[in-house]
Amino acid sequence: MCGIIGCTGVENAGEVLVSGLRTLEYRGYDSAGIAYFDKEKGLSVQKAAGKIRALEEKLSALGEIKASSGIGHTRWATHGAPTDANSHPHGSARVQLVHNGIIENYAELRAELLGLGYVFSSETDTEVAALLLDRLLDAYASKREAIVALTGRLTGSYALGILFADEPDTVYAVRRGSPLMLGVGEGKSFLTSDLTAILTHTRDYLVLEEGEIAVLRDGGVLVMKEDGTPIERPLKRADWDARAVRLEGHAHFMHKEIFEEPTAIVSTLRPRVAGGLPDFSPDGVDAERLRRAERIVFIACGTAYHASLLARRMIEREARIPVECEIASEFRYRDPILSERDVVVCVSQSGETADTLAALRLAKERGAYVVSIVNVVGSSVARESDAVIYTHAGPEIAVASTKAYTVQTAILSLFAVWLARLVGKCSEARARELTEALTVGLPGAVREILAREEEIKALTAPLSDVSYLFYIGRCADADIAAEASLKLKEITYLHSEAYAAGELKHGTISLIEQGTPVIALSTEAELREKMIANVKEVAARGARVTAFAAGGETAHLAEVSDDLFVLPELDASVAPIAAVTVLQMFAYHAAVLRGCDVDQPRNLAKSVTVE
Ligand code: AGP
Repeated sequence: MCGIIGCTGVENAGEVLVSGLRTLEYRGYDSAGIAYFDKEKGLSVQKAAGKIRALEEKLSALGEIKASSGIGHTRWATHGAPTDANSHPHGSARVQLVHNGIIENYAELRAELLGLGYVFSSETDTEVAALLLDRLLDAYASKREAIVALTGRLTGSYALGILFADEPDTVYAVRRGSPLMLGVGEGKSFLTSDLTAILTHTRDYLVLEEGEIAVLRDGGVLVMKEDGTPIERPLKRADWDARAVRLEGHAHFMHKEIFEEPTAIVSTLRPRVAGGLPDFSPDGVDAERLRRAERIVFIACGTAYHASLLARRMIEREARIPVECEIASEFRYRDPILSERDVVVCVSQSGETADTLAALRLAKERGAYVVSIVNVVGSSVARESDAVIYTHAGPEIAVASTKAYTVQTAILSLFAVWLARLVGKCSEARARELTEALTVGLPGAVREILAREEEIKALTAPLSDVSYLFYIGRCADADIAAEASLKLKEITYLHSEAYAAGELKHGTISLIEQGTPVIALSTEAELREKMIANVKEVAARGARVTAFAAGGETAHLAEVSDDLFVLPELDASVAPIAAVTVLQMFAYHAAVLRGCDVDQPRNLAKSVTVE
């Protein structure tokens, strides 16, 4: 996710754009830039890697910018590290644009333009869109027609702000899938990824809809269809505060990020699927090193560690390669046994977790090949790995990780299928079936689950006056129980313990008493009868059991549980991942019920960059 802004008819476009970008910085903060019409120099571009402060320093060295219109961008890198060259805007002497979204077919378009003699200065998908638009200017009489032709060539999601050198004080806008709002003030007009960036200038706005083109000129806004037919649309008035707008209607960022999971899954997986089969070669992973691997060692912390637990299950089941999962803070002090026959996979949302980074360095010293799963492009873990597979979840603002876990487990499951194919353990038919389950079944099931939010919320009622609870499950359900328990603890401050259901009777069951809440997880349908036996054990001692199940027959489980939530029909291989969305939402509503600070729980930080 990135933030884009544009303006016309203002006193000082440089100031308006930069202050707007400061407001948008939460959407991405690894580089920023602006393009504007300088009264003397014409179309000008300034951009810088790093926080917006770096751009401000660059601009202040230029002195006053005499411009009344322009576009700006703050970046959440998806293609290409955060460098000056990869910063937006991108384009040519004739056209400059800023982009929020992902152009999925950028590689083929880039090859086409290279064949036509175009020279690229960045690694970004955005520059491909910009240079393609430059080329289309020669083929069409109007800017509108060239823009329509551009949208016909692009696949993916995007919101674009566009400047043409021969149309000063005019900004064009178009979108597919990414949000774009248009603001109208006294003799000035704006475009923005979210309204917070322009609320100081105007509260009057309209939303640009799919398939429409907007022209901002001399302080006005003209919206038209692709054929040029003008569209009259009444302005809305924003009467909410800045934070509310960033939340886009959600009460908390955690809630918003859980709802982003279906899109995040598709954005992360789709670039790694070719012809219905997994393909990680675009990520530069050394297939030969993986093929020779005698062991896969996951290293991570917290939620990322829990994601690796589930990945282990998939890799061992499909690729039959031994897998170990290590907590980074333990691994680094254990004098671990590693060699070049090992592949280490570091999992980290932030890419800056100190323990994971230290463990990565130790693994490399011992000769292991290190692949990392990271959500922040250009982060330390990414830079120091031999190969990195970026997740495209967008910035995760809430301290409690939700969408990052979901995309980590999804991409690692796809990686497991790819690995299984590499070592000849998975048939093409099975690989296609699993790939379909991950790229279509999983996001679809998560959407269905999100639509049942009220049902999940109702299940939290018994938690209003308890002081501890248990999560129990077997195999993959024990793995997701660990994550479900962490999610609940970190945002409700309720103690909970995740326990392998078959292990309870070896001591811990002594803690079960009348009314003890037990969350029983049963997405492993073939272990259902075993789980029912465990539920009966705790219920016999007074536990209040809330069960979550997927697949197979659930009537018997319903009889022995106080509450039962049955997930939508989906492939058994992805059911545990979808179940975690339910449990994230369960923890979220439990925290709201208990009046906790959901997005910024006490004692926690989003990225633990210290030991
Ligand atoms: C997630 O809910 C936690 N806040 C925490 O466990 C986090 O997953 C852990 O600190 C690892 O962070 P990373 O993924 O950025 O390395």
